[in-house]
Amino acid sequence: MIKLSHISKTYYKAGKAIKAVDDVSLEIRDGEIFGVIGFSGAGKSTLVRCINMLEHPDEGGKVEVGGEEITSFSESELRAVRSKIGMIFQHFNLMPSRTVLENVLYPLQYRGIPKAEQRRKALKLLELVELSDRLQNYPRELSGGQKQRVAIARALASDPQVLLCDEATSALDPTTTLEILRLLKKLNQKLGLTIVIITHQLSVVKDICKRVAVMEHGKLVEQGDVFSVFANPQKEVTRNFLKAATSLSKADVLAKYRPDLLHLQPGEKFVRLTYTGPGVSEPLISTVSNRFFITMNILFADVDLVDDAPIGGTVGVFSGEPENIDAAIEYLRAKQVKVEVLAHA
Ligand SMILES: Nc1ncnc2c1ncn2[C@@H]1O[C@H](COP(=O)(O)OP(=O)(O)OP(=O)(O)O)[C@@H](O)[C@H]1O
Ligand SMILES: [Mg+2]
Repeated sequence: MIKLSHISKTYYKAGKAIKAVDDVSLEIRDGEIFGVIGFSGAGKSTLVRCINMLEHPDEGGKVEVGGEEITSFSESELRAVRSKIGMIFQHFNLMPSRTVLENVLYPLQYRGIPKAEQRRKALKLLELVELSDRLQNYPRELSGGQKQRVAIARALASDPQVLLCDEATSALDPTTTLEILRLLKKLNQKLGLTIVIITHQLSVVKDICKRVAVMEHGKLVEQGDVFSVFANPQKEVTRNFLKAATSLSKADVLAKYRPDLLHLQPGEKFVRLTYTGPGVSEPLISTVSNRFFITMNILFADVDLVDDAPIGGTVGVFSGEPENIDAAIEYLRAKQVKVEVLAHA
């Protein structure tokens, strides 16, 4: 559906060149939900604005959407292409002096369809986003989640094949975020909409994306299935993202700054087990306890489902005979559990 080849974008400000996007090539398949993550300033928004040519990429880059090479299109040709690509934003960008219904009607007015038809369509879209009871409200009378649903209905007015979401849930609380993500998933399934989600919230990607690309300093540094990227991250920036998002990183702080809180007895080991494969459903901890005559005092655990496969880990203290602990660690490693010994007495 979308193919970017060697996309770069350089901004020139006060005689200085800023390379916001640096030679990115990427393919997004028809009907998938694709995530783009990266820390602030990585170039995510710039890259996504190249997809609908709101930003013209530097010479040499190619943008294809739905099989059409649009990089060389004229402004009027681009207008037609852009109607196939909807976009939503962090701050909703609704028209404050128009009602919910009028906001959704607005893009329909220029499509040469009869008024009654426009209205029918707007009402149908607002029903789809579950706002039929709010037609006459103004944006200021709505919650953030409701505003974003109006923005989604408006973005769908031109029957797009692609929806670009730039930090669409960043201004929302966790529950409302989940509601919006559920809605996006429904639109993806019901309408076959291809969705590109830019976010710095890892949980958003975990919840609904099939594949993900990681950006850093304008470059695409890693991409793949959400599960393989998160279960086995290759790049430091990806690992940092994951660490920041789970409580398992607290173990490092504990080992480094407050090892006294662990009360480790001689021979005991403070460990972090990270599950990187499908084996997490096996009762691994009770198995090693029984098999190797050791105990694990669990301090905390964080196990999550990514793309319906379990991922995460457990942090705790192993006690027992040192050789038994070592054998247990070996056993766990053979079961594709990453075992880190963070402290020992
Ligand atoms: N119009 C512009 N003129 C000059 N520099 C720009 C412009 N737009 C973006 N940049 C620069 O390009 C780089 C990438 O910006 P971009 O907005 O794409 O990052 P981002 O990954 O979306 O960040 P965030 O997560 O904060 O939204 C930044 O260094 C930014 O300052
Ligand atoms: Mg951005």
